[in-house]
This record gives sequence, structure tokens and C-alpha cells, in this order.
Amino acid sequence: MRLPFGRTGWNRRHVLLGGGATLAALALPARRPAHAVGSAPTVIRALPGTAQLLPAGEPQTAVWGFDGMVPGPILRVRQGDTLRVRLENELPQPTTIHWHGIRIDNAMDGVAGLTQEAVPPGEAFDYAFTVPDAGTFWYHPHNLSWEQVARGLYGLLIVDEPDPPAVDQDIALVFDDWRLDEAGQIHEASFGAMMDWSHAGRLGNTLTINGQDLMEVPVSAGQRVRLRVCNTANARILNLRFEKHTHTVIAVDGQPVPPFVLEDGATTLMPGQRIDLIADMTLAPGAEAAITEVTGGGRLVAGRFAYDARSVTREAALNPPAGLPANPLPEQLDLANAQEVTLRMEGGAMGRMREATYQGQKLGIRELVAQGKVWAFNGQAGMTDRPLFDATLGKTVRLTMINDTNWPHAMHFHGHHVRETARSQGSVRADVWRDTVFLDRGETVSVAFVADNPGKWMLHCHMLEHQAGGMATWFKVSA
Ligand code: C2O
Ligand code: CU
Repeated sequence: MRLPFGRTGWNRRHVLLGGGATLAALALPARRPAHAVGSAPTVIRALPGTAQLLPAGEPQTAVWGFDGMVPGPILRVRQGDTLRVRLENELPQPTTIHWHGIRIDNAMDGVAGLTQEAVPPGEAFDYAFTVPDAGTFWYHPHNLSWEQVARGLYGLLIVDEPDPPAVDQDIALVFDDWRLDEAGQIHEASFGAMMDWSHAGRLGNTLTINGQDLMEVPVSAGQRVRLRVCNTANARILNLRFEKHTHTVIAVDGQPVPPFVLEDGATTLMPGQRIDLIADMTLAPGAEAAITEVTGGGRLVAGRFAYDARSVTREAALNPPAGLPANPLPEQLDLANAQEVTLRMEGGAMGRMREATYQGQKLGIRELVAQGKVWAFNGQAGMTDRPLFDATLGKTVRLTMINDTNWPHAMHFHGHHVRETARSQGSVRADVWRDTVFLDRGETVSVAFVADNPGKWMLHCHMLEHQAGGMATWFKVSA
């Protein structure tokens, strides 16, 4: 079957529905914390389920989800708390949970083959770790993630500030891009397609927020809301536009930033990235404001704020949103004495890579493709026995990533957040800490961080087909 997987290969139906068309009644914008935290572990079951990804009346989609749901339950804890989760695997494949963006104890990082063995079907694994940073994080498997995340295994992890900003609603907006066939089912035949792996990754044709088609966020005039936006897509770069309201950014990838207003309400999220926004509902009762995806100049309506008839009355006008309290990040970079590391990203369609080392063997491009390895870092396709670099605990590392490919990438660091120090095609923001860094085609980006978290940490492209196709390595932090 041929599906329209173009650059803006969304289902036309969504585009046509934009504006004032009738919207199906939809569930709550955010599932409130379903899981209390105490000493007993919260049980999360990874299992098959169904989800109404398409509009009501159209078929349900068979998915894999945490607790069978898409997204999985929102896990919510307070900064400094210990999160205990028992993962029960009821899938037909081994799996794990990785806690994306948490500066975590290495043994709990959930990377199959590096920090733990994957949990076989029918078995369980207990995760327990303290969360040092407040912010918006997410969780997903780190075994065959290109398939498991595409099938719906992911959820949001919210870590509350001790004194969170006062808002009337705290709303999760978890975006995903699904490749569905004509029956509305996950397009399984294209799992592993080298055409995707060597190009932009698995792009879908259906955009959901919180697993819903055209999600509606009920609001009242005068409310102040916090939005926690996360891109869980395998590969889709989301160019989002929040229309009509003013949106102030207060955090990026879970870490506070000095507040700034999104110009035209527009923001780009790479797979894995998050942004926290504050918006005041300044329109009149009965109004609506769309949340759109605008790649390639299109305007795909993904959801909307729908005002009810009420108005919130306040004693005093709202002040501009204040910044969040700082997290305990090691912010003091010693760039003068930094350990310098270079990582050259190679491969992909229209690239120059002719050979690379895979599992200790130098292979030509044809043999590499036969092994499903179409990308490399410093001439190595995929994970190696030895780390890319070994950092000394407490020392600053500066990593220069050279994107010698014709594709954009999203480099994700485990166990650490990093600051950009130089960017060949744009300016860096010295006040932003990220766990997932965008590199445009041909771009060189330097980042720095203090290697303060001992263990074995992955560093990979978060376009999951690129990761599986060779864009994966690791570094070690030793005492
Ligand atoms: Cu969100 Cu290594 O992953
Ligand atoms: Cu990539």
C-alpha cells in the first residue's frame, strides 16, 4: 500500500477540518496524576491496547501502551522525591523504561544492553530513583524503541516544583505522529524499512495530541494555563504554532529558562524535546484558538482551546509569568580546562559515507545497509565495546558535533543536560540547558556540560530510526 509519506504527509482530512468544523467530543486534556507516590511501587504494565487515534466513529487502533493507554499514565512526583515504578512486561517483546531527561542514578536509566538487561515478556523490573530536577520529562522504552515508541509506549513524567507557579490549569500536550494504514492500524509492514532509516526516519500521516485527533482543551476566559508540550514522535520535527494567545516559555527540556515570549506563538520541537509555556486566556467566552502544525507552510489543526461561557474574575490583573526556581544543575562550566571531544555524524541518503566499522569489522556501504546500519559516529556504526570518551567525574566536557550528513538530527544526552557553546548556523542561548540538541544539515554544534553523574550514558540521535541505524554511542563518567 502506498501512503502519502511526504514532507507534510498528513491525512488531508485533518487539514480540511481546520477552522470551525464540528469536532468530536474528546476526553480531558490531561490525565491528572493517576499514581500516588509512596513507598509501595506504582505498577505500570506495558501491554497491548486500543486507542481512538482517529475521529470518533472511525476505527480504533491497536497499540502498545503503558497500562494499555496512549499516552501512558502521567506520573507525577515532587522534586527530590523517590519514584518507585514496577514495570510489568505483558508485551510479546522484551522492553525497559528509560526516564528521558532525568539526571538519574545510572542503574535506573533503562537502557537495554548498557545499564540493564531488557525485561522479557512476563517478567518485571523495579525502578526506584530520586528526581533531582523539577520539570517536564517523559518515559519510554529503550529496547527496540523505534518499534515500541511507534506503537504507543510513552508517557509524561511531571516533577513539581516545591512552589509551582500559580495557574488555573496545568495541561499536558503530548504530540505524536503515527503511520496508519487505510484500516486505521499501525503500518507494520514498514517497520524496519531502510527507506525510512536512511532518510528522515519513520514519518507518519496522523498527528495526535494526547492520543486524540483534534484535541480540545476546555478553558475559561481569564484563566492562566501552563502547557507542557512534548514531542514523542519517532522522527517528525514539529513546527507548532499556538494561535491567538501570548505564550511565555518558562522551561525547555525540563530546565527553567529566563521567561521569554514565543514570537508568533511558533516553536519547533525535535523528537524528544519539551517546552513549558504559560498562556493567559485573553479571548472572550465562546472563543477558540487553534494549535497547528505548520511545516512546509501548511496549517494542520492538531487541537484547539475551546472557551466555555464563563469568565474568571480576578482581584488583580495577572503579572507577566515569573521564572521558575533554578534546578540544582552543575552550571559552572570550566571551558578553559574542558575535555575536548569531537563527534562526526556521517551516513544517510545522499551522504558521503562509503564504509564504517560495525561490531569491530570494517564494512562497505552495501554490507552496512544489509546489516541495517546506514549512519555512523566517528566511523563507528552503532554501539561499541569502548565508550566514545571517558570523562572524569566533576570535569567539564566540551563536545563538538559535526553533522556531515544531509539530514537534521536531534542528539540526546543521557544523565546530563548540556549547554550550547557554539553553533555554525545560528546563535546559541547561553541560558538554556537541553537534553536533546538540534543539528541542522551540515551544521556544527558545540555543547558543554559537567560530567557529574557517574556511569555509562548513551548519546544518540532521537530520531529513533537513525539511532537504530547506527547513530548511537555512549560515554563513561568515572570517579
Ligand atoms: Cu528518550 Cu535514549 O532516549
Ligand atoms: Cu538523526
